[in-house]
Amino acid sequence: MLPVAKRPDLSTSMQTQLDAWGEAAGVLGQIRDPKVLASLGPAGVRGLVLRRGKQGVPTPIPASHSAHFDWSYPHDNPEMAELYRRAKRGQWDGDDLPWGTFVDPVSPEVRLLPDDFMAWDVLSRAGVKLDKKERRELLADTSCWLLSQFLHGEQGALFAAAQVTEAVQFFDGKLYGSTQVMDEARHVEVFLRYLESKLGKLYQINDNLYVIIDALMADARWDMKFLGMQIMVEGLALGAFGMMYQVSEEPLLRSLLKNVIQDEARHVHYGVVALREHITKELSESERAEREAWAFEVALLMRNRFMVYEIFDEHFEGLMSRATWREVVKQSPGLDRFRAVMFSRLLPNLREIGLLSDKIRPAYEEAGLGRYFTGLAADQLTGDGMIEELEAGRGAVLVG
Ligand SMILES: [Fe+2]
Ligand SMILES: [Fe+2]
Repeated sequence: MLPVAKRPDLSTSMQTQLDAWGEAAGVLGQIRDPKVLASLGPAGVRGLVLRRGKQGVPTPIPASHSAHFDWSYPHDNPEMAELYRRAKRGQWDGDDLPWGTFVDPVSPEVRLLPDDFMAWDVLSRAGVKLDKKERRELLADTSCWLLSQFLHGEQGALFAAAQVTEAVQFFDGKLYGSTQVMDEARHVEVFLRYLESKLGKLYQINDNLYVIIDALMADARWDMKFLGMQIMVEGLALGAFGMMYQVSEEPLLRSLLKNVIQDEARHVHYGVVALREHITKELSESERAEREAWAFEVALLMRNRFMVYEIFDEHFEGLMSRATWREVVKQSPGLDRFRAVMFSRLLPNLREIGLLSDKIRPAYEEAGLGRYFTGLAADQLTGDGMIEELEAGRGAVLVG
């Protein structure tokens, strides 16, 4: 059994709370552009300070956007029409996955995550020494945490895809959008079924993921929803799914992820096509710059802030500080791989839609993300191509 965290005493709880508030202030304090702060700030307070995602159900998020009707039914975007055809042919049934597969989350032979996923040395320097079995238990919980966040992200994607289908001005985009709504429903279905029937545990939504979902659901501007969901969250999803597809040995999970990744490849492709047109041709320079700054802040949020605190709260609060835990997460080879796959997908897409100008590049370089500027954007990459790339990188994934 994993060491059971002591019930935190008042001073430990207080320290944890202060650390959490300090982090929230850090997230909001670093945003320099006042328009970006106005857009992300309220969601940041709801997610990080009020922790709305953890206050029980339901979580109402007010949404106001304009539904765009067109009674002339224009054939206005051949690339979106082609994506619609591809999406109809690419539909699959979650029931057809090999659900009969036996899954043992702590199996040392068929590993959900590899042994060297975590920074065990940092944990051990913090005084937490785990034997082999305890390590496997912690990795099983970490898998549950990851898959729970995938599921919560998919719920956000389902609602955002529905909103975007109403709001977008391309008629071909609306037809395509309906297939994405179906895709996201299927993703919710299969991740939930995997968690319920194979792992038996569900973690609450991570506060930072909540902030991003809240911000894009509440923003009335369709292109901000698009940017938030089709580029940023889908990029995050492809990074996380791709990492897990590469490192996991569990065959049911791998076949589930393979199907989901192929759907997601279409979703990002759609986002790139819609936004490229809009951002490069229709927006003013100041509107473009606002979106560029917004995307940078969200990218930083995604790079720095997924600190797996829900696992810390469960196992390590009272045994080590949150600052030490952050080091464990930062130095974890598995999460490093996740960040690499995510940014190698995300930055070429931002470049393609006109949000990686010379003005913002130094900021990305300073954040250590300059090496991802090149690479293929989603409109150049099919789902099969993406899977091939992930397969090719499989052997070289983690050290050891
Ligand atoms: Fe999805
Ligand atoms: Fe998606």
